[in-house]
Amino acid sequence: MKRILLIVGGGIAAYKACELIRLLRRRGHAVRCVLTEGGSYFVTPMTLAALSEDKVYTTLWDLKDEAEMGHIQLSREADLVVVAPATADLMARMAAGQAGDLASTVLLATDKPVLVAPAMNVRMWSHAATRRNVATLRGDGITVLEPDEGAMACGEYGAGRLPEPAAIAAAIDRALAPAHHPLAGRHVLVTAGPTHEPIDPVRFFANRSSGRQGFAIAEALAALGARVTLVAGPVTLPTPPGIERIDVDTAREMAAAVAAALPADAAVMVAAVADWRVDAADQKLKKGSGPPSLTLSENPDILAELARSPDRPPLVVGFAAETEQVIEHALAKRARKGADWIVANDVSGDVMGGEANTVHLVTAAGVESWERLPKSTVAARLAQRIADALKDLS
Ligand code: C5P
Repeated sequence: MKRILLIVGGGIAAYKACELIRLLRRRGHAVRCVLTEGGSYFVTPMTLAALSEDKVYTTLWDLKDEAEMGHIQLSREADLVVVAPATADLMARMAAGQAGDLASTVLLATDKPVLVAPAMNVRMWSHAATRRNVATLRGDGITVLEPDEGAMACGEYGAGRLPEPAAIAAAIDRALAPAHHPLAGRHVLVTAGPTHEPIDPVRFFANRSSGRQGFAIAEALAALGARVTLVAGPVTLPTPPGIERIDVDTAREMAAAVAAALPADAAVMVAAVADWRVDAADQKLKKGSGPPSLTLSENPDILAELARSPDRPPLVVGFAAETEQVIEHALAKRARKGADWIVANDVSGDVMGGEANTVHLVTAAGVESWERLPKSTVAARLAQRIADALKDLS
């Protein structure tokens, strides 16, 4: 049994809140309702009270309620706060952090997960202001469901209908499912992206790595409860939630950041580190006297050094980007680098910068070839494998 605080906003879809309460009660959950003033024009407190078998809260200004059950307590006593239907106005006030009535005050005061099921006219839903507010709410960690598309009570057609009560109840089931956190208490270090090696103060050489696969792996590890340090080369990707990101430019900066982030339970080196650096000129190289000759020096091999260092994490995973003889090269690389696992990917197609990846996982036990998968799925599978491998380590 979970306790759900259901905030019913003002809109014709409020009648569907009644069916939602029935579905939640049938699942054995306790439902307590807050009804906004707008909502009370569409359903009565009496209806909600009868279905929820609990008192319905409607106002911030009730001395008796504030004495018995303050709005702070109301917001804290639930396992999940659900807003259904959520009007454009209520979402705007939530996004702005306003607290002018009981519903918005409860939403500002809560420290529990919040799930919002919007319902409004199609033009209101697609308006730039609502788009902004939805993005803000999602950025704040609130789950905002996508409304259904179809005929509207106002006679128009489009996206904005409240999702069916069964769909809202299913989203509530997902929100209430216990989090799967097998990597809780583990620290995982991830490198991602390219490195930039300066040629002079304004020029550098680089490679086509987008950082997407590494960022997806960092995110998947964090989703399994790991504390993740992400050492990122120059990329334009946003930092996934809950991750400590250290931005670097060059291979040597990356090597230093990796060393500083230790100890770790596992390291996943996804970065496409430049093998060489240029002995960079102090001043901008000038045209005129023919092309300059660049002197290259070898960069540190971050993966190989980490795998052989006294601070070696118990699980070291490297990547191998190959365009031919993918598995043969990966097997050799595993031995040469001293990595426990090598994730070999065939980059002969559009992998670099693309959305999908075809990988082979090379471990002491052999080679496992995965089908072509979205990078997020490769990340989730790899994160789960890392969790399985670390399970037995104390
Ligand atoms: O030798 P190669 O670049 O193919 O090896 C790829 C693997 O080694 C990747 O895991 C990459 O992050 C890592 N690497 C590194 N430092 C380097 C070169 C590669 O950590 N200088």
